[in-house]
Amino acid sequence: MNAETAAFLPSTLIVNIQAMDDQHAALFSNLAALKMLCIERNELPVAESETLLKALRFHCATEEGLAGNAGLDFSAHGQKHKKMLAAITHAVNEVHEGRMDVFSVLRYIEYWFERHIREEDLNLGRNLQQVSSGMFDPEQAFMLARNATNQSQTT
Ligand SMILES: [Fe+2]
Repeated sequence: MNAETAAFLPSTLIVNIQAMDDQHAALFSNLAALKMLCIERNELPVAESETLLKALRFHCATEEGLAGNAGLDFSAHGQKHKKMLAAITHAVNEVHEGRMDVFSVLRYIEYWFERHIREEDLNLGRNLQQVSSGMFDPEQAFMLARNATNQSQTT
């Protein structure tokens, strides 16, 4: 993460996985730049908002790749990504169609970013660290479920 974009990432949202933190910092930095552009032009520029959405989609794919490579179950997190991408894309379209105020959408996007990192990505970061240090066994969840099932069948 370079010093310029690092300044935009709140310390409480650092997940300690370099690729994720770099992209989160860049996304917050892009959002701040987009906000300045919106103030200058008093509108949401189509090209720049598309660039932000593209970066966000790429970021979601990066996280999915990291989880997949580590053998982590990404299904619930992947659903949250789909929901977030759909909500933000819808809100951006609403602005372009004149049904939503430009600054409301910027606050909305920032809210989604922060909430998603807090609720999903911090945990993904912890799990990725545990896998790389050998402390996380992705099979453990299945074994616990199997043991619970076996136990309920014997009682
Ligand atoms: Fe995520």
